[in-house]
Amino acid sequence: MAVEYTLHINGRDYVTSENKSILRYLRDDLHLTSVKDGCSEGACGTCTIIVDNRAVKSCVLTTKLAQGHDIVTIEGLTEREQEAFVYAFGAAGAVQCGFCIPGMVMAGAALCRRTPDPTDLEISQAIKGNVCRCTGYKRILVGIKRAAAILRGDE
Ligand code: FES
Ligand code: FES
Repeated sequence: MAVEYTLHINGRDYVTSENKSILRYLRDDLHLTSVKDGCSEGACGTCTIIVDNRAVKSCVLTTKLAQGHDIVTIEGLTEREQEAFVYAFGAAGAVQCGFCIPGMVMAGAALCRRTPDPTDLEISQAIKGNVCRCTGYKRILVGIKRAAAILRGDE
């Protein structure tokens, strides 16, 4: 009998018989193209998703190992999370070319889910695996801090 892997993604269950990187599954099979492929080898963070409320690089996670976990992409963030990050990143001028931004948002959103009032150090640590070639990171840090404040109801 063929092996099947059941994956819980953005609140729905999907079944696949292929054991491959969840990044390729999300992009190629589910067409969730917010998940970017910057390097395919765990070095850039553009492919970051949330797994059980933690940021994970999807290129290094397989469909087999992702079974039984709660997987969220940008598309599966709550409306409130999406609005907070769109507003906060825009206000901070954090988006330049934009390629790194989905990964940065997911790293920031995972942090905010676990740590609603993160320090600058905690934000820096949360995005340390995410490469941005444009901004110098400061604006992204400000954006995540502001998104956290909005999500807490402080703004
Ligand atoms: S595409 Fe996954 S870390 Fe670069
Ligand atoms: S905004 Fe261009 S890579 Fe980050």
